[in-house]
Formats: sequence, structure tokens, C-alpha cells
Amino acid sequence: MATVTERTPFRQAIAGHSVMELAREFGTPSYVYDASVIRQRIADLRRFDVIRYAQKACSNLAILDLVRREGVLVDAVSAGEVQRAIRAGYSPAGEPAPIVYTADIFDRESLQLVQELGLHVNVGSPDMITQLAEVAPGSHITIRVNPGFGHGHSQKTNTGGEQSKHGIWHEQVEDCLIRAERAGIMVSGVHMHIGSGTDFEHLSQVCAAMERIVLQVGRSVTTISAGGGLPIPYRNSESYIDIDKYFELWDASRNRLAESLGHAITLEIEPGRYLTAESGYLISEIRAIKQTGKNLYYLVDAGFNNLARPILYGAYHPMSIASAQPAGERLQDVVVGGPLCESGDIFTQEDGGVVCSRPLPVAQVGDYLVIECAGSYGFVMSSNYNSKPMAAEVLIDGEQRHLIRKRQTFEDIIHGEMIP
Ligand code: LLP
Repeated sequence: MATVTERTPFRQAIAGHSVMELAREFGTPSYVYDASVIRQRIADLRRFDVIRYAQKACSNLAILDLVRREGVLVDAVSAGEVQRAIRAGYSPAGEPAPIVYTADIFDRESLQLVQELGLHVNVGSPDMITQLAEVAPGSHITIRVNPGFGHGHSQKTNTGGEQSKHGIWHEQVEDCLIRAERAGIMVSGVHMHIGSGTDFEHLSQVCAAMERIVLQVGRSVTTISAGGGLPIPYRNSESYIDIDKYFELWDASRNRLAESLGHAITLEIEPGRYLTAESGYLISEIRAIKQTGKNLYYLVDAGFNNLARPILYGAYHPMSIASAQPAGERLQDVVVGGPLCESGDIFTQEDGGVVCSRPLPVAQVGDYLVIECAGSYGFVMSSNYNSKPMAAEVLIDGEQRHLIRKRQTFEDIIHGEMIP
């Protein structure tokens, strides 16, 4: 099992590459990913039959290519994510399905792609069954079931229970089976994902709910998916969940089901955060330091347009300083903010927008501030708010470092706009 390494707020290098050199070469703000961390996290989960990467966490083509080479399959939640997977070398069909389309609706574009490519669908709403039958009769599907409970690191990432729009409500499974049978659709898989960034206790409650639903669906089921949701330790006080114990719970459920149904059951897991969060660093430059009343602010050139998790969820990310000057050891309480013209553009905030300070090394303008554990739901949630370009992305693989996305230019930002 992975162990937590105590993080410190002093950092001169990422995976052996100097932060200063990375900043000089690629500019700031830039996302930097360490390939070895992603490979390690994949290795942690090898006991599951299928690891399916929830690419919504970090969908750069180079990251998808990396996980594909490790034998990891992929989940796509939109036509765009399906196309990304294909560009990264996944084939649309195969057994087990290399790409699964998981959603609660088909927009017109995704339904057309599903039809053209013959993609496997993980259905989150009863209407999707009928819509799929019209374009792809005879398909096999997975049903994503909302077991009636859920949990996440924030209410916004809880995907179970009746406050969640996700999945087929557990009491409607029977109706869906009838609907599927009438439409000539075969339910070959059951999937549950109760939330993102939850804990062991909640995750393990899913096994019993899964067993109940699979027995209700019956012998057509050949695959079960535990969904994603594995947490990672953002704070030094947090730890990893026990992956082996988690696997053993699921393995036992799978074995009981195989026994009851009389055939083998494939066990999938579908993590996003767990595979990429810790690999990613957002490097920013401190551009101003100012005292405002009792608060000392470090203002950096990355904002919530680059990393939205703090303003959206009050999410905590570790931070460190790479100093251009000989680094002192002294810490001081600071508030870290970005460049955007909005008071909420603060990286040190708690849920509800409460501005907090935290101890960080004494720094000067021109030093670099690194926001850590930013590889999942970091770049992918960025925007062009305030007409700021999206950051560059860089992949470190051992000695090598590769630019895997250019920083946007002003022309990229206004691309497609027209003055009539
Ligand atoms: N599978 C399904 C069907 C999902 O809805 C999700 C996440 C995952 C897998 C992957 O969950 P993970 O293993 O990453 O926890 N933007 C939020 C997270 C939203 C997750 C939405 N669904 C954040 O920054 O925390």
C-alpha cells in the first residue's frame, strides 16, 4: 500500500527537476506532472481485473497515452472525452470495452458517436435505454445505479442519494430491466459510484448494495464496477485508504456473485483522482507581497481560472515555495491569492469562502509558489475568465521533460469570436 510522505513547504525540485528551471523553460503558471507517480498509483490497483481511468480528472492526450500504455482502460463522459480517448490510441470496441461512455444523458453528439463507434454505454437514466435502442438495437449496457446513499469530500461531489442527479434510482431498477427487455437491450454490467473523495467506511457500504442489485438483474451480469471515489491525502494529517482491504471486500462480493450466478464476474475500478492528483504541481510566480490589515498576501500569477478547487469546494492543497534566493527556514502566516479581479480568487480558503492564512516560508517577489496535489480536477476545470490564457502542461518522465500542452495565446482565447 502507498505510504504518505510528509510534505514540507520548502521545495526546490519536482521529480529531480529544478522548479526554477522548469519555470524558466515553460513559463508560469504551468502544470507539471510526474509520470512515475501515475505509474505507481496504477500499480497499487493491479489486483482489480480492470482499471478504468476516469479521464475527467486529467485528460491531456499525453496522460491518456501514458495510462493506456500501462494497460489501463478509460471512461468518457462526453463526446469530447470519447474523441480524446481515440486520439490517444484507444480503440472504440473490444472486450472488455476499452472506452465506456458513462453519463446521465445522451446529447445529440454523444449518441451519434456511440452509434458510429459501437461504444459500450454505462446508462445513468432510464430514458437513455430507449434512446440507445433506437440507434443501436441489441446493445449490451451497464446500468449505473444510485444505491440511495452517497458521500464525497464536499456535498458537490456526493453522487448518491436523492439529492444527486446521477444514476438510476435503486427502486427503479426493475422498471429499467423491463424497459431494456422490451427494447432488446441486454444489461451485462452494474456500476456504482457514490461520490468523489469519500472514505473507507462509505466506500465499503457499496459492496452490499451492489450484491443486492446484481442479484435482482440476474444472470446477464458479467461485470461489476466499484466506480471511483478513492481519496488521496491532501493534508499531512490524512492517510491513504487501505487498498488491499478495499480490494478484498470487493473480491469477496464478486466471488459470492459468481457463485450465485454460476459464471465468472469481472471486477472493475474507475478512479480519477487517485491516479493523477499527486502527480500534478501548479507552478506559479509570486508577483506581489502586501500587507492588508492583519493579513499578509502572497499574490501569484495563477488564479482560480487555473485551479478552481479551492473556490468551488474550499479544497485544501499543499503549497511550497521554491526560492530564487538562498532559502531561509523561517515560516510566516500568509494568504495566497491570484491575479483575477474577484475577491474569491484565494487559494487558502475554506468552504463558504472563508479566507484563511497558513504558514509558508518567507518569500520574495520572483520566488515560485508551487500548489501540490493538483493533477486531478486541476487543469481540466480551468477557464479563460478575465481573458487569462490556460496554462502550459509539462510531463516529467525520469530525466526527460516534455511540453504536453502549449500555453494558450491571445489568439487562442478569441478564436471563434466574431464582430458582426
Ligand atoms: N466515475 C464516475 C461515474 C464519476 O462520476 C467520477 C467522478 C469518477 C468515476 C471519478 O471519481 P474520483 O475517483 O476522481 O473520485 N471536481 C471534483 C470531483 C468531481 C468528480 C465527479 N465524478 C473535485 O475536484 O474534487
